[in-house]
Amino acid sequence: MKLSNYTLSDCPSDRNQYSKIIDETKNAILSSFSDDTSFSGIDPNELRKKIRSISILEDEGLGFERTLALVKEEILPHMLRTWSRNYMPHLHSPALLESLASEMIISAFNDSMDSWDQGPVATEIEEAVIRELLVLYGFDPDGGDGAFTSGGSQSNLTAIIAARDKYISRKFNWDVKKKGLFPECSKLRLYTSEISHFSMDKSAHILGLGYDAVRHVKVNDKGEIDIPYFSRLLKEDRQKGLIPFLSVATIGTTDFGSIDDVEAMRRLCDEYSMHLHLDAAYGSALALSDRERWRMGRIELADSITIDFHKMFLLPISCSAILFKDKNDLKPFSLHADYLNREEDEEDGYINLVGKGIQTTRRFDALKVFFSFKSRGKKEYASIIEKALDNASYAYTVISSDDAFFAPVAPALSSVVFALKGGDELNKRVRRALLKEGIVIGQTVMNGSVMLKLTLLNPNIGHEDLDKLIEKIKNYR
Ligand SMILES: Cc1ncc(COP(=O)(O)O)c(C=O)c1O
Repeated sequence: MKLSNYTLSDCPSDRNQYSKIIDETKNAILSSFSDDTSFSGIDPNELRKKIRSISILEDEGLGFERTLALVKEEILPHMLRTWSRNYMPHLHSPALLESLASEMIISAFNDSMDSWDQGPVATEIEEAVIRELLVLYGFDPDGGDGAFTSGGSQSNLTAIIAARDKYISRKFNWDVKKKGLFPECSKLRLYTSEISHFSMDKSAHILGLGYDAVRHVKVNDKGEIDIPYFSRLLKEDRQKGLIPFLSVATIGTTDFGSIDDVEAMRRLCDEYSMHLHLDAAYGSALALSDRERWRMGRIELADSITIDFHKMFLLPISCSAILFKDKNDLKPFSLHADYLNREEDEEDGYINLVGKGIQTTRRFDALKVFFSFKSRGKKEYASIIEKALDNASYAYTVISSDDAFFAPVAPALSSVVFALKGGDELNKRVRRALLKEGIVIGQTVMNGSVMLKLTLLNPNIGHEDLDKLIEKIKNYR
């Protein structure tokens, strides 16, 4: 029987078509680059004009071959090559080679994580990976639980919802899930460092608490929450009638990699009955290195933790998880839909993950973690992470010992923030000029000054690459 090549099937012609599509796509990708630049350097206006000139939906389609040819011609040359040793602007990593195989499996089968009948083995693998992660981060796998999410922002949002609902239920005997926000909710306060990720503010807005609910606590000169200041702030807020419910320690701030003192924050959380969440979107990979794990502090004291696999773990976007020490914290997300997760099925052992998070349809991202953990093992992963930290330390040593630069903070993880002496405009110009050459580095602001940033995640980057780049930047003076 000849099908019309809509999908993969048991039919030989569909199988052949699938193999052909995969081979030709792979060839198109491989022939789209021949050097180590990370970007074509095209001007954004020129690129927009080019892309807008392509009509997207016409009555007659082009078919696979001609569409791939068009993509090869117009799109692939301008794709960002995250694997390039000239790409280091953000916590945005290249993908490990074997993870491309897991992505291929995920998209070919297209399982969904919301109910067991949409992903039987996918559900069991996600559950098993979550248990492994609970152990890795010092939580009891029987007492705790968690789920995969679309990224650090959604993991943080999930933790904030859980912390808010738990606090309000305990303190005011009020069920947010049923009744919505209670009148005094505008007094709820979430504490996090002044350099923590903006997903705290975004979440506060989404949850109806507003930006004012987020108290940005002052940091010390190492970029860590100033604990005595935090303690005073809590006391003052309590005296003003405000209601502290959650404290977020960042395990690796976005720009500096700085790590808050988990133990000291736990003490304050206990004093005020607050939930302690760790935003370890950046630093969570340290757990795989026996040499570097100490940097995270006593993470096992937390109530929840955000892990991003699409940062230091080098897995393809999207791949993140949220873990809770107490599985009851996931209760705000439980819900039964007649068509999806019937109670009688769950009583008989069918696990439906829709009740563990915000999303309904969700990809089988846990396979990427399973595949890479299994194929690399802890030792090889540790060497990837240690390489990133060693590179940052090397780059900082070179930059800070050169009079042309200003590098105020030693890297706590794998990012180096610095500026070329000569002012903001010079530094902005440098980043733009490098971008045109296909070298992408980061730019941020520190104490009102424009700074450049090297975010070193790629294990292929070597000291020679860093020497060359630093010299190049210096020559822009
Ligand atoms: C510390 C921190 N938390 C959360 C996030 C958000 O993660 P995502 O981009 O995966 O939503 C980031 C992103 O860089 C981050 O640096």
